[in-house]
Amino acid sequence: MKILTYPNKILRKKSELIKIEEIQAKKFSKLCLDMEKSMNNNKGIGLAAPQVGQNIRLIVIKHKDGCLFMFNPEIVKKSEKIILAEEGCLSVPKVFGQVERSFSLTCVYYNELGEKKKVNAKGLFARVVQHEIDHLDGVLFVDKISRLVL
Ligand code: CO
Repeated sequence: MKILTYPNKILRKKSELIKIEEIQAKKFSKLCLDMEKSMNNNKGIGLAAPQVGQNIRLIVIKHKDGCLFMFNPEIVKKSEKIILAEEGCLSVPKVFGQVERSFSLTCVYYNELGEKKKVNAKGLFARVVQHEIDHLDGVLFVDKISRLVL
């Protein structure tokens, strides 16, 4: 799949919720696999559906040995502790910058089987969850950069 890059307008749209009863539809299982492949081919650690041209609330995140498919992810709790660290994005090639994110969070979502899940994340995992959910709201990490390193 082609990964859209800045300043494509699709990256700026707010993405739609996915109907829970449709999560197990073939189009979504295919999309999940295609996104996982694109993420791996581009050495990414996360990818959001708008980056492949679909304004729907689905993100894919590399986690431990596998991959998490998160439908309608929502952060329900964030730590007060904030960490500043470098980020990049497959949709903003060759740009890196320091972004402030919560150190840890709790996220609820539906997995690829349509089951409701809750995950506690911290460190890099929490950072990727926040970065990818931002994509679903049309927000790019460059919007939050405090120091740009080109
Ligand atoms: Co990104």
